[in-house]
Amino acid sequence: MTERLTQRLVAEHPGLLARIHAIAAALASKTPASAEGAAVIRRGLATLKQELDLHASLEDDAVFSVLEPELLERGGIALTPFKEEHDEVRRHLHDLEHALGAASTGAAANLPKAAQAARDLEGTCEDHFRKEEEVVFPMAEEILTEEAWGKVDRLAEAITASGFTR
Ligand SMILES: [Fe+2]
Ligand SMILES: [Fe+2]
Repeated sequence: MTERLTQRLVAEHPGLLARIHAIAAALASKTPASAEGAAVIRRGLATLKQELDLHASLEDDAVFSVLEPELLERGGIALTPFKEEHDEVRRHLHDLEHALGAASTGAAANLPKAAQAARDLEGTCEDHFRKEEEVVFPMAEEILTEEAWGKVDRLAEAITASGFTR
């Protein structure tokens, strides 16, 4: 059997969390006090942002868009909270980026704000990834037909090919 997109997304979670933990740990240490330290963190953040953007787009626009109508038809839950959590993740990323950007100009007072945003991002992602792994993806694997998975894969290919990110 070919790998389901949900399996690939679950496999991406540990790598994403590791990147977030590394950024949060660097901000919790004294490393970013130097301009060089802040630049290293900003580079890690740029990669994380790209990866999270694609990851969330594949969930919103490939998995959830096929799964949600099926769930609602069965009297099940709407996936709105999960989509809202993706927006929350984007807000934390934005805050983190903003606070770090300001830090590069010497406004060190924003480093505590960056550290807080990294902790918020960490907490939101840990909780969100766990719910996807324990609730949403198992539901998808249980109810989606081969035809529906075909649709998920076609949508995912289009998203990846277009390089689409929000
Ligand atoms: Fe997600
Ligand atoms: Fe995910």
